[in-house]
Amino acid sequence: MKAKTVIVTGAGQGIGAGIAKIYGKNGFHVGVLDIHYETAKETVKEIVDQGGTAMAVECDVALRSDVEQAIDMVTKAYGLPTTLINNAGVGGYFHRIDEVTDEEWDWIINTNLKSVFLFCRNLLPKMKEIGYGRIVNISSIQGLFGSPRSSTYVATKHAIIGYTKTIAAEWGGFNITCNAVCPGYVQTAMGIHDESFKGFSQSVMDITPSKKIATVEEMGELVYYLTSEKAQYMNGSAITFDGGITCYTGVTDFNNF
Ligand SMILES: NC(=O)c1ccc[n+]([C@@H]2O[C@H](COP(=O)([O-])OP(=O)(O)OC[C@H]3O[C@@H](n4cnc5c(N)ncnc54)[C@H](O)[C@@H]3O)[C@@H](O)[C@H]2O)c1
Repeated sequence: MKAKTVIVTGAGQGIGAGIAKIYGKNGFHVGVLDIHYETAKETVKEIVDQGGTAMAVECDVALRSDVEQAIDMVTKAYGLPTTLINNAGVGGYFHRIDEVTDEEWDWIINTNLKSVFLFCRNLLPKMKEIGYGRIVNISSIQGLFGSPRSSTYVATKHAIIGYTKTIAAEWGGFNITCNAVCPGYVQTAMGIHDESFKGFSQSVMDITPSKKIATVEEMGELVYYLTSEKAQYMNGSAITFDGGITCYTGVTDFNNF
């Protein structure tokens, strides 16, 4: 069977790198896109060292020209990407709404949200033509509730869920599925990754029933499953992946059980 092509955005590090490596292991041709070419190349090297096929593409996902060029490059090398993982995202600064500048707003909205529009607008008609498409958009548990000092990020992550459901409803009839994943805390630069976050890490543990922070490999396996044949009936879902954080009101103290 001909290998499928996947594009993973923001795959130079963190969750995106974890996702890209899982696809590489599973025989996909992987387009590793990142604004930082050097880190994208590192992910590619790891995939190739594992026996996989991948190419690094420098791409600012907020720019239409970069997105179009990246899709063209990957398509020319490997054929149409029929699997798309919109993962690239920035958290921005911990600012109250009245502290957010126009520049910061545009940066977060364009990176986290406009990017999803740019990739989907380009690829959905091509997926329709071929009669197959799988899309996963990375939202967050911050796409499910409010979070002080993260308003712009929260707005993008809520919007991604609505956008995901609309893609599912609009394009589901063409054998295209689109689902969102809402991670809690994952071990990355954006999440919690070193000693300096120890205090924060403890407060995350205090609100996480499973008492664990997810790994990028676990995220990769979930995303891969959502685009596999086994999950073909899943369409328009927003899956929480949070060790139980959002199932718990915080009113009772499970820590003293
Ligand atoms: N880590 C967590 O705990 C967590 C929790 C919930 C959701 N998420 C989401 O998961 C996704 C990945 O997060 P992460 O923790 O791996 O972050 P990260 O900061 O470790 O990695 C993000 C990657 O995106 C790239 N990137 C940033 N701006 C870009 C742009 N304009 N164009 C192309 N690439 C760009 C960065 O260079 C980097 O390689 C994000 O959408 C984030 O919102 C993360």
